[in-house]
Parts: sequence; C-alpha cells; structure tokens
Amino acid sequence: MTEENFIPKPYTNSIDSGSFTWASPSNIALVKYWGKKEHQIPENPSISFTLNNCKTTTTVSFSKKEINTGFSFEVFLDGEQKEDFKPKIETFFKRVEVYLPFLNAYHFKIETSNTFPHSSGIASSASGMSALALCLMSIEKELSTDVSEQDFIKKASFLARLGSGSACRSLEGDLVVWGTHDEIKGSSDLFGVKYPYDVHQNFKNYQDTILLVDKGEKQVSSTVGHNLMHGHPFAQERFKQANSNLSQMVSILKNGDLDQFIALVESEALTLHAMMMTSMPYFILMKPNTLEIINKIWNYRKQKGSNVCFTLDAGANVHVLYPQNETASVLEFIKNELVAYCQNGQYICDVIGLGANKL
Ligand code: PMV
Repeated sequence: MTEENFIPKPYTNSIDSGSFTWASPSNIALVKYWGKKEHQIPENPSISFTLNNCKTTTTVSFSKKEINTGFSFEVFLDGEQKEDFKPKIETFFKRVEVYLPFLNAYHFKIETSNTFPHSSGIASSASGMSALALCLMSIEKELSTDVSEQDFIKKASFLARLGSGSACRSLEGDLVVWGTHDEIKGSSDLFGVKYPYDVHQNFKNYQDTILLVDKGEKQVSSTVGHNLMHGHPFAQERFKQANSNLSQMVSILKNGDLDQFIALVESEALTLHAMMMTSMPYFILMKPNTLEIINKIWNYRKQKGSNVCFTLDAGANVHVLYPQNETASVLEFIKNELVAYCQNGQYICDVIGLGANKL
C-alpha cells in the first residue's frame, strides 16, 4: 500500500452540516518509536498497549462555507477557546488536505476534553489526534459511498500519524504495531495495525498506574527529540535493536514469560532516555523522583518476587506496569512507597483497553 491509496475518489454525496463525536485512548509504547524520516515515517517499528481510562473526547461540528477561502476552524478545550492549539491543527490540515479534499469546503468547530488532568504531563497528542482523525473520517464516510469499516480505521490511523506519529497506535486493538516488521503480518510504516497473533493470558487486563512526577510542560518537544536522531552516533544501532526487540516481544507475548517481558520493557524505556542523553544537544527528561521510583520498584520486585516493572514516555512520569493478579498488592506498594514522589501525590490507575469509540 502507498500514500496514493489514501487519496479518495471524487465524492458522490453532498452534505451541508453535521457533527460527530469520538473518544480515543492514549497509548504506552513497549518497544519505542524515536526517530523519523520525512512524512512521519518511523525509523523503526514500535508496539504499544492501548490505555482504557486516559482518553480524549472530540466533537467536530461542520457547516458548508459560502466560498473556499483556506481552512476555517475554531478549537475549544473544556468549553474554552484555545487559540494556541490552532497552529498544530493548521499544520495537520495542510498535511492531510490531499487525503481529505473536503477540508477547505467547511467551517469546523472542534470541541475537545481529556479524562486525564490537562497539565498532567501525559501527552494528549496521541489521543487528541486520533479522535480528530476519526471525526474527519466520519465526515468523509458521509460524502462517499465506498468507505468500508476496515478502510475507515486504516485511513483514520494513517491520518492520525500525520498529526502525531504515536497517535496512529490509538485507534483499534489492545496491542498495536506501527512500522514495517518482517515477522508481523500486515505491519506498515503508514498506519498502526492490531497485533495479529495470540497473546498469552498473563497479558490480559495488564495494569498501568501512571505516577505524575512532573506535571509541567515538556522542556523538549518530541519533534525536536525525533530530529536529534538524525546524525545521532548510536541511531543505526538503536533502530536495529528496536527491530530485534520487537521480534523478541512477539515470542514473549506468545509464551507469557514475564521476566523477559520486564527486562525488555525496562531496557526499552532506559534506551529511549539514553538516546536523549547522548544526542547533541543532550537533555535529561527524568527527574530525581523518577530515579527514586525506579529504584523502589527494583527493590520491591526483588524482595517480593513481584512482576511489577516500569516504562517511561518522553517525560519524567513513570508508568508502573503489572499483571492483573498483582493489582491489590502493587497498589498498596504504590500508596505506601511511591505516592510520596508524585507531584501533589497524584497518580492515575489505568488498564489495557480496546481502542476508540464513536459516541
Ligand atoms: O508521537 P510523538 O511524535 O509525540 O512521539 C512520541 C514518542 C514516544 O512517546 C516517546 C515513544 C512512543 O513510541 O510512543
């Protein structure tokens, strides 16, 4: 499949106005994406757990314009107009205009809200861009008679990727792969796909408690971070490693080996941050409390023989991952020993979910 396949045939229907609402989840990568080529093509494949509770709900209302004078839209977060969200959406519209030629013909009102606190340091770009892409696809479905259910999700993921790379993993499925990988059938650099193989019972309802260590704005945007992988001294080795880690992950997901899972997931998290620390300019997104929490998790795991582990996004917050049967004990550990390292004692309990919903 190529990018051209996502350019629609001339629309057959006409519609003056309407409104669609979608709720899309956030996701947390197990094998990380860090580094991209032109047009948001990832340098290496990645796989993520889809979250269930951390979601963005977006309503797009649209009405036909009298004349086509460029893009016309307004954006609201929790009912408040957000001028500062507009440049990102304008860039997104420019990138996807060729795939959604109706964008110029309507005025859009985009109303969005997150289930997680706004300034929690949890990236809302994945859930936000995925929800927006789904709403736009719902409009396209009204204009065209030949959009199948399968094409709908695939194109929504394709569009979401052009908004924010990891957003293409926030559409459908509890485990999602993005990026071409020889051993994963149907995988593509252009969109995310539901993980197509058997997953061991150990990973069903896997838990993710997100410890909010630092709720501030990111000091380094992921765009800047991805770009620093160009000419990075370890880039090529890292991309090779991610490919082989994904191969390993396929067997771990099948055989349910939690020791191997923990080793792979924690190594991926630290490698992501190691790439940041060894780029030029270099930067550190972990905070002292991030390291305190990691050490506490390692001690607890050793002492109790637990299967708890951590992963990190491009920030200081810690995702604590554990199997469902350890929920009570790990939550107790979190309350007793880790909450003290969270900003205002805040954390979010989540579990692996199945993807986006039309509301
Ligand atoms: O989707 P972006 O461009 O914000 O990149 C995010 C990359 C990481 O979250 C750090 C890793 C990943 O694979 O999600």
